[in-house]
Amino acid sequence: MTKSCLVIGDLNVDLVLNELKDFPELGKEIVAQNHFIDIGGSGGIFSAVLSELGINTYIISKIGSDFLGQFLISKLKDYGVNTDKLVIKESDETGITINLSYKKDKYQISSLNLVGSLSLNDIAFQNIKDIRHVHFSSYYIMKNLKADYVKLINNIKKNYNNITISLDTNDDPEDRWGEEIYRILGNIDIFLANKKEALKITKESNTGDALNRLNKEVKVVVIKLGSEGYIARDGENYYSGDQLSVNFKDSTGAGDNFDAGFIYGFINNYNIKKSLKIANIVGAKSVKYIGGVGNKEKFFGLKKLVRKID
Ligand SMILES: Nc1ncnc2c1ncn2[C@@H]1O[C@H](COP(=O)(O)OP(=O)(O)O)[C@@H](O)[C@H]1O
Ligand SMILES: [Mg+2]
Repeated sequence: MTKSCLVIGDLNVDLVLNELKDFPELGKEIVAQNHFIDIGGSGGIFSAVLSELGINTYIISKIGSDFLGQFLISKLKDYGVNTDKLVIKESDETGITINLSYKKDKYQISSLNLVGSLSLNDIAFQNIKDIRHVHFSSYYIMKNLKADYVKLINNIKKNYNNITISLDTNDDPEDRWGEEIYRILGNIDIFLANKKEALKITKESNTGDALNRLNKEVKVVVIKLGSEGYIARDGENYYSGDQLSVNFKDSTGAGDNFDAGFIYGFINNYNIKKSLKIANIVGAKSVKYIGGVGNKEKFFGLKKLVRKID
């Protein structure tokens, strides 16, 4: 059986201004100690990490034909991601997030209109032969897809036998958290969210109740708890894990790394417990490195660690 994953969702450039001390103020210039530019967007980071872990990965997302779009294609290819199905819009601007990074937290300023304009008709998965799993990233950012997810999932299921689907909603930048998400949950096999997202979506006040509510809709639910690790439920089976202690540098994309670790295990037919262990290790490893994807050295160490997990 082949083991390819198709990622449908957000991809943008991340510009990170690092180690800022002063806060922004209208009319004032503040200075960062350093900066870097990398693959951003939950779908972009997830794809690069999953591909580096060894899964053949395709991404469908919308970028411009500008230099930022070229940068993303070349970076994704470096990580082995198949970029053939990216939708490239002439004379439009590739999405970007500017991160103002402080010791404890960060400001994020995004321009994602093109990213959110990906539509059902843009998604040409039909001639990809060997898809085993589809991952949807950033439900709320993909505005143009919202009404069509169920149709898209049905089309995908018609095209591929026994395909499985995962979803990480990520944040709702409009802070609306509408009920319409429940329309697609029944079509999803694996639901991943962080604590805030799980509580907002279910309107519950604690993560245990949120887990159980979501499990009424989706068989496998994973809630990421940042510094408190994770909880998960697969049918009647409950799981939890503590955060692994590491030398913390930057939390960008920790959740996307966690997701990639989990889906790596799932696609390899490992059980849920083992897949969660891998996810937690990949999530922890990511915060030791600046940026969402990290670098080649990170993956060299990570692949060794993952192979040892039983
Ligand atoms: N400071 C940290 N140290 C170690 N692991 C971490 C740390 N922060 C996050 N992680 C790992 O990354 C996962 C996802 O982090 P979280 O912040 O909850 O998700 P998201 O990035 O989606 O908001 C956690 O469940 C944990 O495995
Ligand atoms: Mg997240």
